[in-house]
Amino acid sequence: MHNGIIENFHSLRQSLLADGVEFTSETDTEVVAHLVASAYADSGDLTRAMQDVVGTLEGAFTLLAVHADAPNTVVAARRNSPLVVGLGDGENFMGSDVAAFIGHTRKALELGQDQIVTITPDSCDVINFDGTPSEGKAYDVTWDAAAAEKDGYDTFMEKEIHDQPHAVRDTLLGRTDENGQLVLDEMSITEQDLRGISKIVIVACGTAAYAGMVAKYAIERWTRIPVEVELAHEFRYRDPVIDENTLVVSISQSGETADTLMAVRHAKELGARTLSICNTHGSTIPRESDAVLYTHAGPEIAVASTKAFVAQITASYILGLYLAQLRGGSFGRNAAEVLEELHGIPAKMSDLLGNLARVKEIAYFMADTRSVLFLGRHVGFPIAMEGALKLKELAYIHAEGFAAGELKHGPIALIEPGQPVFIVVPSPSAENGLHGKVVSNIQEIRARGAAHW
Ligand code: F6R
Repeated sequence: MHNGIIENFHSLRQSLLADGVEFTSETDTEVVAHLVASAYADSGDLTRAMQDVVGTLEGAFTLLAVHADAPNTVVAARRNSPLVVGLGDGENFMGSDVAAFIGHTRKALELGQDQIVTITPDSCDVINFDGTPSEGKAYDVTWDAAAAEKDGYDTFMEKEIHDQPHAVRDTLLGRTDENGQLVLDEMSITEQDLRGISKIVIVACGTAAYAGMVAKYAIERWTRIPVEVELAHEFRYRDPVIDENTLVVSISQSGETADTLMAVRHAKELGARTLSICNTHGSTIPRESDAVLYTHAGPEIAVASTKAFVAQITASYILGLYLAQLRGGSFGRNAAEVLEELHGIPAKMSDLLGNLARVKEIAYFMADTRSVLFLGRHVGFPIAMEGALKLKELAYIHAEGFAAGELKHGPIALIEPGQPVFIVVPSPSAENGLHGKVVSNIQEIRARGAAHW
């Protein structure tokens, strides 16, 4: 089993082919399987074979190997890719996340980078890639086993969508002291350093990056610190303008996304302070960051991110309010009011989730749609892009998210009669007056015959 990418697999494959090895696929995974088989033929020891092979690999990977003659022994290796061991009674487990075994054991073993672990039902031995022994770090999983069950829903994703009010409520829990002041106990960067921050760069991928884009509007408004949001894989391959007064905030549900991890490491090399907003305790990104703000969404088992997204926005807002309070700007005094409003969100979410009949009806009519547009302004813009991502990922329907103000600069050409368009409409009471502008966008789109419900 292999997770990740072996970057030098092509040259490894060429030398195996030259040795007469026959392949049944074009994958990098098969290359590793042949390499492990050949190393095992030399040493007769699977752990040793794994150790010999990982030394030749480049990239980020988790590998698991089993010998057909000894099915009770599993050897695994990790480099910049997730792997956690579950320690049971007469049984041990491996998974990329504790959710994989939480129904069987609450004891887990955290592995470091570049380590190999060999498990049998009764033993668990860890070594480093260079062969030196290691212990790993045992810990108790605090997530409730019930959180990893479907609770009567048909799918984990449906359950996790309905978990959203809890995810927001739990992420807000315990963030104020007896005087109503925000306290972030996971914050290990000094207050003095945080006061000196002159720029924030948020790095993340996919849905987490859209959460970061939502956060940018709030953090800039509240703190007056400039905030950039960058896809982690773009950030790490350019020469970003970063120094010790930059706070690089990574957002990741899993805490293991290789691109985000590499961006955090790159930021540290450049001297920035790093803060991780993460949902998975003990995962690599928070472990390698200077400070952590955990989202308390509980395990997200479905592949598509849902409840983690709202928890990430909540945690980013807490960070923004905290910085505003700490820096004592005019907004710091309003932090309590905003927090109060945030506490009201879970009830609003529950109301919405309690009435999904209309959503199901619209989905029924759209089942054969080939392409959908999502439009929004201000925070509605990243929300539109997240909507498009979800539709692509889950329904395999082509979708695009645009800033509604951009419509007249090109995308309006796509609006033909019958084209479905979802529009995120800001509240009429929003101070920025954007409600009216989005309503005129709707009129423009309707005039072109877009489908509407
Ligand atoms: C989309 C989705 C992905 C993740 C992205 C980052 O539904 O799940 O776009 O958001 O791969 O993953 P994390 O948050 O674990 O770093």
